[in-house]
Amino acid sequence: MSLDHAERKPHDRLAEALATDLTAVGEMIRARMASDHAPRIPEVTAHLVEAGGKRLRPMLTLAAARLCGYQGPYHIHLAATVEFIHTATLLHDDVVDESKQRRGRPTANLLWDNMSSVLVGDYLFARSFQMMVETGSMRVLDILANASATIAEGEVLQLTAASNLATTEDIYIKVVRGKTAALFAAACEVGGVIAGAGEEQVRALHAYGDALGIAFQIVDDILDYGGTDAIGKNIGDDFRERKLTLPLIRAVAAADAEERAFWERTIARGKQETGDLEQALAILARHDALGQARSFALDWAAKARDVLDSLPDDPLREMLQDLADYVVARIN
Ligand code: IPE
Ligand code: IPE
Ligand code: MG
Ligand code: MG
Repeated sequence: MSLDHAERKPHDRLAEALATDLTAVGEMIRARMASDHAPRIPEVTAHLVEAGGKRLRPMLTLAAARLCGYQGPYHIHLAATVEFIHTATLLHDDVVDESKQRRGRPTANLLWDNMSSVLVGDYLFARSFQMMVETGSMRVLDILANASATIAEGEVLQLTAASNLATTEDIYIKVVRGKTAALFAAACEVGGVIAGAGEEQVRALHAYGDALGIAFQIVDDILDYGGTDAIGKNIGDDFRERKLTLPLIRAVAAADAEERAFWERTIARGKQETGDLEQALAILARHDALGQARSFALDWAAKARDVLDSLPDDPLREMLQDLADYVVARIN
């Protein structure tokens, strides 16, 4: 081991601590993404699954279950379930956002077509429900079914808020809570529930996932304006799709007349020309809109860290707390 404990990324430390479980999750994902009847399904799923992904959500489930002392087999099903739900939403999201790159590869909608992405996404959703039923727990079914509905609501709310310069920060948080934080929260919560943790701990796990998910999505929205991190996705998607993400909301609030006219043209009316993304970046920089968004993400990360204090003092708890800081640090 060349790096000492403190220098290694929390994400890597979690992966190492959960290595055996993660291998089992990987095997379950590969087994369940197959289909005997429609070869297009394994083609599309393998394209996305083999590209990797950070596996953040399944790690949350595994870590929560272990932290609460779980010794049974079903945290593996639940971790695979949340990764399937996540993968399904990515397939659908890239169609909706007309994205061209995901996990450093061309998107499935680009390589195949929108129809394949939508239908294979539906298939993965259905497969995820089969896996969670196998746990026999009505409570985890309830949590994950609710989260799935909330994700869809968040995506639809975002769709209807797009291009509306009057979008408030409250609406933005509602969108982010729905489309991203709901699954982070559910991933953590079901880990605690399957382990039979007490209500206070289950609530803390939910609150941690919620705050972590919000911080994570704010950072994703910052990176969409040109992160230095290799994120494996194209930048500028949100501007092109006229999304009122936090950096843009802050810049619009601070706009002078000329800037306001620029946002009216490019976001409200959608008349975008070459060079507009660069112009948008210059305006964002003028108001330190990315910096403001970053400090808001840091507040949510601090919330995530604090709320876990009520869980047992354990190296896994510490890694989850460090992960909260790390999701924001990936901007640098
Ligand atoms: C992407 O999530 C979707 C968002 C909520 C921003 P991740 O960044 O966790 O995606 P992968 O699984 O690592 O590719
Ligand atoms: C991510 O939305 C949320 C879901 C996939 C439901 P985004 O559209 O912001 O995520 P990326 O940037 O494409 O990964
Ligand atoms: Mg997207
Ligand atoms: Mg999207």
